[in-house]
Amino acid sequence: MTIQWFPGHMTKARRQIQDKLKLIDVVIELLDARLPMSSRNPMIDEILQGKPRLIVLNKADLADPGVTKQWLEVFKQEGHLAVAVDAYSGQGIKDIPLLAKELLKDKLEKQRAKGMNPRAVRALIVGIPNVGKSTLINRLAGRNIAATGDRPGVTKGQQWIKVGTDMELLDTPGILWPKFEDQNVGYRLAVTGAIREEILNVEDIAFFGVKYLVKYYWEPFSSRFELKEPPQDPDNPHDIVAVMEAVGRKRGCIVSGGRVDLEKASGILLRELRAGKLGRYSMEAPY
Ligand code: G4P
Repeated sequence: MTIQWFPGHMTKARRQIQDKLKLIDVVIELLDARLPMSSRNPMIDEILQGKPRLIVLNKADLADPGVTKQWLEVFKQEGHLAVAVDAYSGQGIKDIPLLAKELLKDKLEKQRAKGMNPRAVRALIVGIPNVGKSTLINRLAGRNIAATGDRPGVTKGQQWIKVGTDMELLDTPGILWPKFEDQNVGYRLAVTGAIREEILNVEDIAFFGVKYLVKYYWEPFSSRFELKEPPQDPDNPHDIVAVMEAVGRKRGCIVSGGRVDLEKASGILLRELRAGKLGRYSMEAPY
């Protein structure tokens, strides 16, 4: 999904989330485990107005497990509850209702002390487009929830989805915008596929991705494309173009005169990278 985030859209998105905050106890902030900072909304603290928050790092199956562990530690040090999951397979998601309850522990204990029987914890998932909100909702629900409100004849009202006995989830997530002021954030999102190619040039995205992989994941990258020597200077654009040409030759992207079709090579490389064919990688690390 590509959304053009004009100021009016941001205001509307923010208002929609703030309306929903009145209905819920806990926010599940969904981030991409491969780039938890770049996939985070820049105004999240302000928007959530102090609502208890569980941070969920999704697509952990694609991320570098060592780096994900570091991120979880960082969030913990900052005082947040955080968990890494793979919403696609469902790995780790059973912890979400338990952690949501943990967040409200004091409140629930007070209610019990007063002889009240606490109701299920009500939660809302928020995150930028493509981070896996619908996938997670469907996984937690154990069935396919059709998106309501977008089609004529479909009721616009909010529905609660029961997740076991302890949690209820709003069926429509809160959609947030990423931070676009920083060009590197845009490229990181584009490399992972969170931003579609129409916005940025495919060769530029691949160039950014290759430079990063050459620096931090040379082993899996070079073995996938059978590259021999790492470039002498990964910060030299000529060296990175040479690597992209080698990738293109390996994938048969040759045009007349033996030249490598870099656009085609870039597309192939990004598809393989996003599908996890180059192994697990993270685009940003806390240390
Ligand atoms: P959104 O609601 O936040 O916009 O995201 P959505 O659930 O539509 O997920 C975006 C893409 O990310 C989907 O792939 C989805 O399958 C994939 N995805 C979500 N969670 C995970 C995860 O934990 N691991 C992996 N590997 N992928 C995940 P798609 O290619 O756009 O669609 P589809 O081909 O899967 O239908």
